[in-house]
Amino acid sequence: MSSLDVLVVGGGGREHALAWKLAQSPRVRRIVCAPGNAGIARETECVAVPAEDVAALADLAVRERFGLVVVGPEAPLTAGLVDALAARGIRAFGPTRDGAQLEGSKAFTKDLLRDAGVATAAYETFDDPEAAHAYLARVGAPIVVKADGLAAGKGVVVAETVAEAREAIDSILRDRLFGEAGARVVLEEKLVGEEVSFLALTDGRSVLPLATSQDHKRIGDGDTGPNTGGMGAYSPAPIMTPELEREVVARVLQPVVAKLRERGIVYKGVLYAGLMVSEGRASVLEFNVRFGDPECQPLLMRLRSDLVDVVDAVIDERLHEITLDWDPRAAACVVLAAAGYPGTPAKGAVIRGLDVAAREPDTVVFHAGTAGGSGGSVVTSGGRVLGVTALGETIAEAVAAAYRATAHIHFDGMQFRRDIGRRALSRSA
Ligand code: AMP
Ligand code: GLY
Repeated sequence: MSSLDVLVVGGGGREHALAWKLAQSPRVRRIVCAPGNAGIARETECVAVPAEDVAALADLAVRERFGLVVVGPEAPLTAGLVDALAARGIRAFGPTRDGAQLEGSKAFTKDLLRDAGVATAAYETFDDPEAAHAYLARVGAPIVVKADGLAAGKGVVVAETVAEAREAIDSILRDRLFGEAGARVVLEEKLVGEEVSFLALTDGRSVLPLATSQDHKRIGDGDTGPNTGGMGAYSPAPIMTPELEREVVARVLQPVVAKLRERGIVYKGVLYAGLMVSEGRASVLEFNVRFGDPECQPLLMRLRSDLVDVVDAVIDERLHEITLDWDPRAAACVVLAAAGYPGTPAKGAVIRGLDVAAREPDTVVFHAGTAGGSGGSVVTSGGRVLGVTALGETIAEAVAAAYRATAHIHFDGMQFRRDIGRRALSRSA
């Protein structure tokens, strides 16, 4: 019955996990990844089309007659890849361009949240630096300064002083540090509490929560140092209690999906809410319009359902008909990053020990920034290089298993956090 040819768009750890999971579906005949990475290329076909090149990806999909396109990263979603594919009759998983504004424009999102009555920090949006400075002078610090558009996770400054905020406004609006992504700036109230991620599937009407998960954003142990895309993740996340989950679905996700629909936007795909939780109430910090990376890796290791069936239910607006089957075990992912990350990463370092690490039981070494080197070697080619992911009976055991496999791997300048899952472990202790 395997007759489906699938194109996976992207080349990070998330896309390796997606390709790995899709390959387990009896419905899938062929998987191609664009552009992929060295780890994906060991298991499936990769083509050198960049994930941002909407026209080339749409041409590829038509030429190769893919029955399904699964889009990993936000850039092609905000650039309208799903719209371009739909226009040519190709099924794709992920929101259209208008829905992807939830991640692509902070101003759009803040307005939508206000309109839907969803809790979020008080804010104002500015395109004029003088007006932004005047507002800042009025409200003072602490304050959060955000570039409106996509800035690779670097467009947010939590300013503790007015001077810091002034500098951030100028570098975004005047110096265009993030180009047109900084044509507008959002100034918002600093929230306090505990940061939590919540991922759900939606078909534009129903909301189906994924298993809970949590990532680690800072580069250093104990949540120190600069922000990154994520240095590790685990699932389940004990902070997300059933009560909090109900609160987030009822007061955040359902109203957002309904408000989008009211505006003519049928949002299909993953909706990822970044939340600040205080006294059991959740406020929205941001949305992502895709699986988190690295949250996707532990989540897909735990998902037992056929991912193609799940994706079909989303695309065909039948999400209310399905349930998700999860491995009761926990999963943890330790990200191994290159020297220099989250700044400019060192490339070309030879990675050793991959095969030994992969022989550990219930462990998968997902590749992110890797490329083929000389003589069949694998070398670093990006900031986050690998995501060592393992299952265990408890979070503590999953974490220990991921570190056991990590101990086999080495490359020059390798950095990783030694405290993945720490918050979950201290909570259950
Ligand atoms: P964002 O991309 O909007 O999630 O912002 C990145 C990070 O900045 C978040 O993960 C938070 O740690 C922090 N942040 C964003 N907005 C706020 C806020 N209103 N109050 C406190 N911290 C924030
Ligand atoms: N791990 C956070 C993200 O994917 O944005």
